Amino acid sequence: MNDKFMNTYKRTGLILEKGKGATLWDKNGKEYIDFTAGIGVNSLGHGNPALVKAIADQAANLIHCSNYFLTDISITLTEELCQAAGFDRAFFCNSGAEANEGLVKIARKYGSDKHPDKNKVLTLIGSFHGRTIAMVTATGQEKFHKFFGPFTPGFGYVPVGDIAALDKALDDRTCAFLFEPIQGEGGVLPLDAAYLRQAQKLCKERDILFAADEVQTGVGRTGALLACMKMGLEPNLVSLAKGLAGGVPIGAVLAKGACADTLQPGDHGTTFGGNPLAAAAAHVALGQICKPEFLAQVERKGEKIRKAIQSWKNPLVKQVRGMGLMIGAAVSIPPGDVVSACRERGLLVLTAGEDTVRLLPPLVIRDDEIDRGLAVLKSALDTLAAHG
Ligand SMILES: Cc1ncc(COP(=O)(O)O)c(C=O)c1O
Repeated sequence: MNDKFMNTYKRTGLILEKGKGATLWDKNGKEYIDFTAGIGVNSLGHGNPALVKAIADQAANLIHCSNYFLTDISITLTEELCQAAGFDRAFFCNSGAEANEGLVKIARKYGSDKHPDKNKVLTLIGSFHGRTIAMVTATGQEKFHKFFGPFTPGFGYVPVGDIAALDKALDDRTCAFLFEPIQGEGGVLPLDAAYLRQAQKLCKERDILFAADEVQTGVGRTGALLACMKMGLEPNLVSLAKGLAGGVPIGAVLAKGACADTLQPGDHGTTFGGNPLAAAAAHVALGQICKPEFLAQVERKGEKIRKAIQSWKNPLVKQVRGMGLMIGAAVSIPPGDVVSACRERGLLVLTAGEDTVRLLPPLVIRDDEIDRGLAVLKSALDTLAAHG
């Protein structure tokens, strides 16, 4: 292992070389079925011809220009994303954490226009919102609140699903309630739609922005463009990233209604955000993902995977959760053991939370790739159960 990298990731030692669809090859030619999509990023799979061509063509024309200028591709992307998601305006950046930072800035300025102290952002216990100082503060998990203090003031946490606690916490100082429709890093834990609809109502009554972090759940991952659409929710603000440009770094904040006009020149910005290269990639990704038949196949494949795992009745699997192709299998052994056993057999999977194996395959994964991946997962779980 190269010790010149900072020691920030528990790396596997695997050196990947190329990919096609939902199949990856390492540098020794060993093949892997990819149930990770780069942590929910490679939505169109690896080596998607339309995506590769759009990136190459755009790179030949114009890779980057500053945000002081528009390009046809950035105009097209902004219009189609706002139209498809039902929002008034978009701000583009480079990552999920950066999208959430922008979202919080909009919420704080929106709040401060009403009252100088209306700046608190409420999040949920168990949430994950990113790695910047403000976003580790926003993240409602103690383990992220170590070492890096002092943390940013103005965040509070409420337990998931407890509407009375939320009702009490949404006070005059609160400018936004930020939630993940499915807590991803926390363990693939879908929130109750009825709870979120009540939360939305409370926020609306108190002029508090209802803000969805759809960095992981967004852009088709759950079988809808936004998980909020599936849950009958209409947030004022949404953050996106991961799958939006099929692997090219991008993030976005979408805003609707009055808060869409909150940011004015000089309030916020970023050098690379939504540059022509990223916009060209996102245009292709969105074009494919927004089609109803594409979203329907995400739903169908997710259902197929969840049903298969449940049908095995493996004693190690406690519960299978998720929506679309965002799937979590809670297990009674360390989930990392399952990840290692799968990797040895040629399947890449992820963990989430303390006890969950997480599956985030490319949204274009073929049925034969699903079948091969599931066969490996079953054999890994069977072997681990036999040795348990
Ligand atoms: C819900 C959610 N929000 C924010 C982030 C942070 O995104 P990024 O790693 O692109 O900064 C993640 C990353 O996993 C996420 O799942």
